[in-house]
Formats: sequence, structure tokens, C-alpha cells
Amino acid sequence: MARVLLGVTGGIAAYKACELARRLVLAGHDVFPLLTRGAERFVTKETFAALTRRSVGDDPYPHLTKADLLVIAPLTANTLAKLAHGLADDVLTEAALAHRGLILVAPAMNAGMWEHPATQANAETLRSRGVELIGPAAGELAEGETGVGRMAEPEEIFARCQELLGGRNGPLEGRRVLVTAGGTREPLDSARFVGNRSSGRMGVALAEEARRRGAEVTLVASNLAVAAPRGVEIVEAHTAADVEREVGARASRADVVLMAAAVADYRPAEELGSKRPKDERPWPLDLVPTVDVIASLSRRRSNGQILVAFGAGEGEAGLERKRRMLTDKDVDLVVYNDVSRDDIGFDAPDNEVVIVGRAGERRVGKAPKARVAAEILDEVETLVGG
Ligand SMILES: Cc1cc2nc3c(=O)[nH]c(=O)nc-3n(C[C@H](O)[C@H](O)[C@H](O)COP(=O)(O)O)c2cc1C
Repeated sequence: MARVLLGVTGGIAAYKACELARRLVLAGHDVFPLLTRGAERFVTKETFAALTRRSVGDDPYPHLTKADLLVIAPLTANTLAKLAHGLADDVLTEAALAHRGLILVAPAMNAGMWEHPATQANAETLRSRGVELIGPAAGELAEGETGVGRMAEPEEIFARCQELLGGRNGPLEGRRVLVTAGGTREPLDSARFVGNRSSGRMGVALAEEARRRGAEVTLVASNLAVAAPRGVEIVEAHTAADVEREVGARASRADVVLMAAAVADYRPAEELGSKRPKDERPWPLDLVPTVDVIASLSRRRSNGQILVAFGAGEGEAGLERKRRMLTDKDVDLVVYNDVSRDDIGFDAPDNEVVIVGRAGERRVGKAPKARVAAEILDEVETLVGG
């Protein structure tokens, strides 16, 4: 059973939220409806109280911070704008701010409202914060016109809720997955650092996909340039030493460790305590190797833990070097990224990888990182199951 907050706003599709409420309750979830005053012009609190087996006067506040999922269907242009700007002038928008779990929204409005640049910008703001949008779909709209703005069907929203709710019955349910993402920054002084171009997109996509498959996910995040995913535990780690410490503290509990972060191989030998003033003299840097986190994990890993290393290199020669990690570092899989290309790898939305395992190699053609993450987890699932 999961705790679900069901937001309903004042659109003509509000009546369809009754069907969504019914399905969520039938699936065994504890559903708390939150209707805006706009929604009450279309549907009644009594209907939702009855469908969710509550009393109209039930106090929502105890549920606000405990819910696993906030789903808002339909989502009006008005509440979409309020969410994007952090307004909290009714119980639904207050809940959205207080809520730490997953958020799924189903916008529904006429095509003009949806296409308006203000609405599009607001939708993009929500996406960038990790809110998932479902629809709107193209089709017949309330005023008799056709266009994009129709709410996704309740069955489709329900199915997505089920997937998001911890991937109940997902293939990785009951497994603990530890993922690292981003790029470390090794301080030179109090203002400057030696870093790399990793945005964290690949690791975030892996964390999201593992969560979708039902795993309990911890993400050790190094200076992410993208929003952290919802519904996973986030642990910040800025330097290679931080990654070593945070991963080391958690690895023994993990069934799968996915080391997608670009952890510095070298760090400045000396860190100045305050900012070095600018002058005309050169500043020669002495770099020393950092601890090899993967090698130390591999030495300490317990039976059955799946360890996946990510390696960046250039061309086929780079791939050949990374193949050796299978034996040199005794990992189960190596995911090779060619970083000589601009259109994939570092800080790009797409990736193209070679997944190297003991049983063979698989080339994953250029695809969005979410798709690549799914392919990598397919391989991991085979190993977990085998
Ligand atoms: C008959 C009718 C239908 C409406 N349908 C929609 C709709 O589908 N989508 C939408 O964004 N607004 C729609 N509106 C406008 C909203 O009800 C209005 O913006 C309201 O302030 C929304 O409040 P809420 O977001 O707090 O629920 C409709 C208004 C009326 C009178």
C-alpha cells in the first residue's frame, strides 16, 4: 500500500479524476483527495470522499509530508503556473511544496492555453525539477475543437502511478541499488577547483530507471548540473574523497553498485586554505592520484554484489583499455563511453555505449540516456537473477 495525494483542479476533465481515484483505491492505496475551489465547480468533495473512503472533513495535513506520490489530474493552466512559481495559496499547492516524494501531473486545457509560451515555460520548469508530466494528448477538446490539450486517459495515468509507486512488482523490487553520478571537483584553493565535464545525466537516468523497476535507490551525487531525481535517497559528495567515504559507508548494503560518476583520477597535491591572489607569476600544479574507488569496492565486496564500472576513453583504443577493467578491477560489467565525440557522453542528452561483460559485449546505439539506462539495467537484471 502506498500513500497517494490526488490533486484535482478546475478543468472540464475533473470528472475523469473520479475514475482515477476509484482505480487507485482498488489497487489498495491510501488515497487523500485535494480539490481546488476551481475543481469544486465541476465535481464535489463528497464524491471523492466516498470514492476514497474518507469523510469530507478529514484533516489533510497529517498526510501532506508522508505521501509517496502526488498525482494531479487534471492540472489546469492556472495551477500549473502556481506550481512553477512556488505559490501556496490553497491546500493543493501547499502540499506540492511540502511534498518530498514523486509528482505526476496530467495537464488538461484548450490547445491555445497549452501552446501559450507562458504555459510551455511553466511546464518546462516543472520538468526541470523532476516533476513528471503525462500528456496532454491530441484529440477532441471540450469546446468541440481538436488539438493538444486533452487529459491523458485515467487508465494511462493509473498505470503510470503504479509504475512510479516503487515499481511495485518491478523486477528489482527488494533490491538496493547504489548509483554515483556527476563529476567531482578537487579544490585548488577556497575558490578554484579541478573538475570535469560530467553533468550527471547518465547516473540520474540510471537512478530513475532502477527506481522505476522497484529498487530502493541511493544516489551519491557529485555537483549535478541536472535536477536530482525524486523518490531516491540523495547523498552529496563533492570530491573524490567524499565519493570514497559516502560510497564506502553504503556499499556493503547494496545489491548493485553503478559507478557512473566521473570521479577525478588526480587531485591537487596541495589545497590552499584561502583564495590565491592574482599576480604575474605562473602557478605550477602538482597533481597526485586519488583513491581508486572501484578497486577498493571490488576488494571489499560481499558475495553476489553486482559491480558496474563506467569508463570514458577515446575510440577503439579506449575501449580496449576499458575491457581490461573486467579482470584488473574484477567488476561484473564495464560501460564504455567514447568521449572523443561531442554528440554523446559528457554533458549531452544522448549516449552511445558498449556494455562489456564476461559473457560478451553489447553495443547500444545512440539514444537518449534514459533508454541507455534501461539497456544497462536489463544487463544488470540478468546478472542479479543469474
Ligand atoms: C467550463 C469551464 C471549463 C474550464 N476548463 C479548463 C480546463 O480544461 N483547463 C484549464 O486550465 N482551465 C479551465 N478552466 C479555467 C479554470 O477553471 C480557471 O483557470 C480556474 O481559476 C482554475 O482554478 P484551479 O487551478 O485552482 O483549479 C475552465 C473554466 C470553465 C468555466
